[in-house]
Amino acid sequence: MSSKKGMHGAWSSRWTFVLAATGSAVGLGNIWKFPYIVGENGGGAFVLVYLLCILMVGLPVMVAEVMLGRRGRQSPINTMRYLTEQAGLHGGWNAIGWLGVVAGLMILSYYAVIAGWALHYIGHMASGTFQGVTAEQAGSIFNELLADKDTLIFWQTIFLLLTVIVVTGGVTKGLGMAVRVLMPLLFVLLIVLLVFSYQSGDFARGFSFLFSFNYEALTWEGVLEAMGHAFFTLSLGMGAIMAYGAYMPQHARIGRTVLAVGLLDTLVALVAGLAIFPIVFANPTIEPSSGPGLMFVSLPVVFGNMPGGLLFGSLFFVLVTLAAWSSAISLIEPAVAYLVESKNFHRITANLLLGLIAWIVGLGSVLSFNVWSESRVAGFNFFEFMDFLTSSVMLPLTGLFIAIFVGWIMRPQAVREELSDESDYVFFRWHWIVRYISPLAILVVFVMGIYKTFS
Ligand code: TRP
Repeated sequence: MSSKKGMHGAWSSRWTFVLAATGSAVGLGNIWKFPYIVGENGGGAFVLVYLLCILMVGLPVMVAEVMLGRRGRQSPINTMRYLTEQAGLHGGWNAIGWLGVVAGLMILSYYAVIAGWALHYIGHMASGTFQGVTAEQAGSIFNELLADKDTLIFWQTIFLLLTVIVVTGGVTKGLGMAVRVLMPLLFVLLIVLLVFSYQSGDFARGFSFLFSFNYEALTWEGVLEAMGHAFFTLSLGMGAIMAYGAYMPQHARIGRTVLAVGLLDTLVALVAGLAIFPIVFANPTIEPSSGPGLMFVSLPVVFGNMPGGLLFGSLFFVLVTLAAWSSAISLIEPAVAYLVESKNFHRITANLLLGLIAWIVGLGSVLSFNVWSESRVAGFNFFEFMDFLTSSVMLPLTGLFIAIFVGWIMRPQAVREELSDESDYVFFRWHWIVRYISPLAILVVFVMGIYKTFS
């Protein structure tokens, strides 16, 4: 049974939603993942496809998610149950909520491992391990870390504990400060990095790698990865944004709010890319396509050789950890909310249980960097498989369902009423895109990408 009991109270202002959504969106996806998948997919053309996906799929679906969340005002699973029952639909539509919660936990499992790397690097930076290093030395320091599974597990555990403790205490308290103060600081540091990388790296090559459209390098697998990343970086397709949408005041313009969050998120990713690639091209031992270690090998070279690098470097990894942490909260919160709302769990128990699941699954990713590095499922190691299954399969599929639900199943008048504060101009364009463009784009890219990946 679903009822509107246990409704969240609306936050006092749209601003609070912006903080929570930005905290969720800006994370490892922007600083760690975006640069390395750009590198693996040959640069510019991939970036262009990614930007198109943000515009034509990501932002429209984000508006849809916020709207659904505000309409349902419960945890994502119950929101979908409530909305689909109201529309007289088959219970199968609940799959949207479920798929999302499972995807969130799977992402959290490896997210915590990578955030653990950042935690570990704080100490490295502060103790001067990277002072004056060459790219080659930075590379071997990183490889040593990957080979050391106990250290990886230690930091993964610490990160998950931090997440679980905060989510237990309630999400809103620490988040405001983290986003209001620390995010801008992170952004300033990225700009400092950018300046240094402009001075000491091969900026021209880094820039043209990111922004010149070498279409030969682009494949359907790459296009699918770009689209999946559009979902990942905006925290779409698993209910996180839906959960935060539940806090959106009734009369707040969703359109421009979503646009602000999307712009900010994209900006952070592009600045991170612009800071990293000039360093990559100035150091022949770092391959653009070197994978998940890209940021952890290139940035220490910068910090190790710039004035004040000890301080800036430690601070940078503290801030990256915090950005990861405010994202991790949103990966676990929908599942916690569901267990508390519908299964009578205590917040603490729900958190510990879900954190434990993420921890156990995460061990697979830890091992994929050392003991299991040769084991392959469909050509992927465990970490890559988790990433592929979530970013390239589950998130796009949930996004597709959401676009179809909002574009085709809900009555247009109901949708219009829910978005009554938008102008006609904005509303009709959005509705058209979410009805035709987004679902079609997701479908074509998904089918072609999967076909090419496995053929
Ligand atoms: N968007 C975050 C990042 O870029 C990761 C993230 C948080 C996420 N919540 C999510 C990804 C929900 C998908 C779904 O790092």
